[in-house]
Formats: sequence, C-alpha cells, structure tokens
Amino acid sequence: MKKLLTTILSLGVAASAALAGDLSLTAVKVSDKLDTVSADSALWSKAKFSTVDLYPQTAIEFNDKEAIEANKANKGKKVQVAALHNGSEIAVLVKWADGSKNVQGIKCTDTYSDGFALQFAGSTKKAQPLPYIGMGSEGRPVVVHLQKATEKVYEPNGNKDVSTQINRQQTGVFGKELAEYDAKVASLANTDFERVFVGEGFRSLTEIKDKSVKSNASMKYENKGWTGTLVRPLKDDYISASGTLPVAIAVWDGAKHGRNGLKLLSSWVAINLEGSKANNAVVAEATEVSKGDAVKGKLAAETNGCAGCHQIDKSAPAGTMAPSLVNIGGYSTAAYLRESILKPSAVVVPGYNRNAHANTPWYTIEKGKRVSTMTDYSFLDKGTVDDIVAYLKTLKVEVE
Ligand code: HEC
Repeated sequence: MKKLLTTILSLGVAASAALAGDLSLTAVKVSDKLDTVSADSALWSKAKFSTVDLYPQTAIEFNDKEAIEANKANKGKKVQVAALHNGSEIAVLVKWADGSKNVQGIKCTDTYSDGFALQFAGSTKKAQPLPYIGMGSEGRPVVVHLQKATEKVYEPNGNKDVSTQINRQQTGVFGKELAEYDAKVASLANTDFERVFVGEGFRSLTEIKDKSVKSNASMKYENKGWTGTLVRPLKDDYISASGTLPVAIAVWDGAKHGRNGLKLLSSWVAINLEGSKANNAVVAEATEVSKGDAVKGKLAAETNGCAGCHQIDKSAPAGTMAPSLVNIGGYSTAAYLRESILKPSAVVVPGYNRNAHANTPWYTIEKGKRVSTMTDYSFLDKGTVDDIVAYLKTLKVEVE
C-alpha cells in the first residue's frame, strides 16, 4: 500500500512539475520606443509568449463568510505573458480569460472590477533573496503597478469645473449642440485607474503620487478575455534591472467574491533581458525545483505538527493560528519555503486584525522587531527540510 501511495503521489508531483508554468522568460530586445505600447500594438508579434500559472491567494481568510465559501471553489488560472525591452524601458503584456467584463463604477461601492498588477522586486544592493511575494518584506522592497477596469466618469463638481454642467431635463441645448456637448464631456472623462505603490511587507503598500515613476498601463477586453499591458523604465528610483528582472503577476476577477474581487497570484517570474547577461542566481531562485522527496516531506510535516497551526488540507478548517498553506506551493519559491521553516522571523506574514484575533497573534514584538510565533524548525536536518519544501511545493489547487 505504501509503495502504491508513493507511486501515485510521485506521479502527481511529476505531473504538476511538468504542467507548471514558465518561471523564466525572455523580454525580446527591440529598437522601437515603447512608451505608447498597448494591447493592440503590432510590436507584440515580435515577442515570445509564455504560460504562467496563478493561484488564489489563500494565506489569510477574508472577514466575510460568503467570500470564504466562494474562495474554496476557486481554481488557479493560466495567463499568457510576453515582454519587450529597448534597453531603457520594458513592456509587459498579460493575457487572461475572464468570462465576464466587470468594470468598476467610480461611485458604486458594491461592484468590483477586473484588474491586474505587476509586482517588481525593488532595487537593493543584493538582488537575492527575492522579496516576500505578498507585497515585499522588510529590507526587500517591491514596486506594484495596479491597473483596474473602470468606466468613463466625469465629475464636474469633483473637478470643481462646472462650465460643462447642464440639467438634462431642462436644458435649452439639444440636437447637434447636445451631441457636441456630450462629446466634450466624454473627452474630459477620466477612464484610467492606474496606481503605483512601494511596499516592504503585507499591508505596507504606499502609493507613489509624485509622478517619479514614468509608467503607462492599460487593459482591453475582447473575446472573453483581458489583455493588460504595462510600460515602465528598466531603471528609476525604485527598480534597477540589469540582465534579469523578477516580476510577479496578479489578476483580479471582479465577478468573484472577495473585498476587491478574487485575486490570483503567480510566484516570482524571472524576465531575462535579451542582449544582456542574465542574473543566473535570480533565475535559479525563481525556478528552483526542490530536490527533496515530497512523499517523505508529507510524513515529516505530519510528525512535526505543521497542521497543528496551518490549514494544509482544504477539507480542514483554516483557523486563525497561521496562514493557510493550501496554495503555498503555487506562489512561493523553494527558497522562501526553506527560509520559512528555518528562520520563521525572516519574513513575518502579519496575519489578521490583531484586535479581532488577540489570542492568536502571528508575531510578537521584541526589541522593536517582529518575531514569528511559529515554531523554529532550524533543528531539522537539511534532507528533511528539502523533503518538506518539496511537499509544500505540491500544495496548490487545480489550474483551469
Ligand atoms: C505554533 C504554530 C505553527 C506551527 C506548528 C507551524 N507554523 Fe508555520 N507559521 C505559523 C505562523 C503564525 C506563521 C505566520 C508568521 C510568519 O510568517 O512566520 C507561519 C508561516 C509559515 C509559512 C509562510 C506562509 C506564507 O503564507 O507565506 C510557511 C511556509 C510555514 N509557516 C510552514 C510551516 C511548516 C512546514 C511547519 C511544520 C514543519 C509549520 N509551518 C509549523 C505558525 C506555525
């Protein structure tokens, strides 16, 4: 029986490795300017497309029962990714299927929009280890570009511009004049919801509002799917890409529950800039396949009591003791998982609202530093840690 189980599990593991998306891709070098690139640009015919898998981010449960239930049924998603660069700018395209177009009405609070985000590793002296996938970690910053699908809105009063305000019921403007008026209002409308943030850890995102990042993002819905594009410099105050640029991809589905729609997230993807020397260490970190034995790792996780705090099996309740690990293998690198086991306080997932869950804090504060409440497993031997990492890498839901 044990032998059979081993075979089935290892087959499953092999299959999931074979089906996994590309975690290393190439930004094709072009000589064109990229600042006006959008989904329709002909330049994309020069790009190489890769498939990347995204998973529901399930580390922390929502404060919403309906959303928790809905999230249980959620699957991962395959997205197509391509990139171009010209030595000073990079353009990234993400294409994903979405059966319904959900556009946020600026004044509605009960509709959620589709959207996408690209998270880049921020510049640091050392490019490694990569930042925590959930919006960076202390000393390992990230830059997040967020684009949401919004409807055209024009708010004369909001803009303190009443020159184009009329009462449509009682207006003396009609016919051609009214059409001209409507066209003018439409041209003044704001259609874009593009934001850039820096972060050094979950909930630390700060918007960059001083226009110090020159970027341009847009989204287009066609044939039951979105194409999102982003152009930004390869080097600015926040990132410094040479050779390889680590990026993580997130998409939101506004039709699915969650405070901002369902979020799906990739692990770190290494984008190699064609024409320059790749940063092999970063590529290796993004693409590492643990050499451990997942079957032994499952047993080691059981004997070491990981499930005492963590939800590992979807059928077990998630609880409030620790992050759920049901999709941890989908959006984490092996290096991050190893570090989580050996040095729990290196990155601290901050957890719930501490006022609401005062009895199960995920960290305490000692001498001004966050110290994880997770057991320190640095006593485990290297082989066992590798096995547990290999097992954790298999924890992820099915991809559509
Ligand atoms: C005493 C409770 C407890 C036990 C036992 C425990 N953990 Fe944790 N774990 C936590 C807490 C709390 C966090 C969140 C704080 C942090 O980031 O360290 C965490 C975080 C993690 C993370 C990062 C999760 C994320 O979303 O990024 C991983 C991976 C992890 N643990 C793996 C394990 C493994 C593997 C075991 C068993 C060998 C284990 N844990 C045992 C409490 C525990």
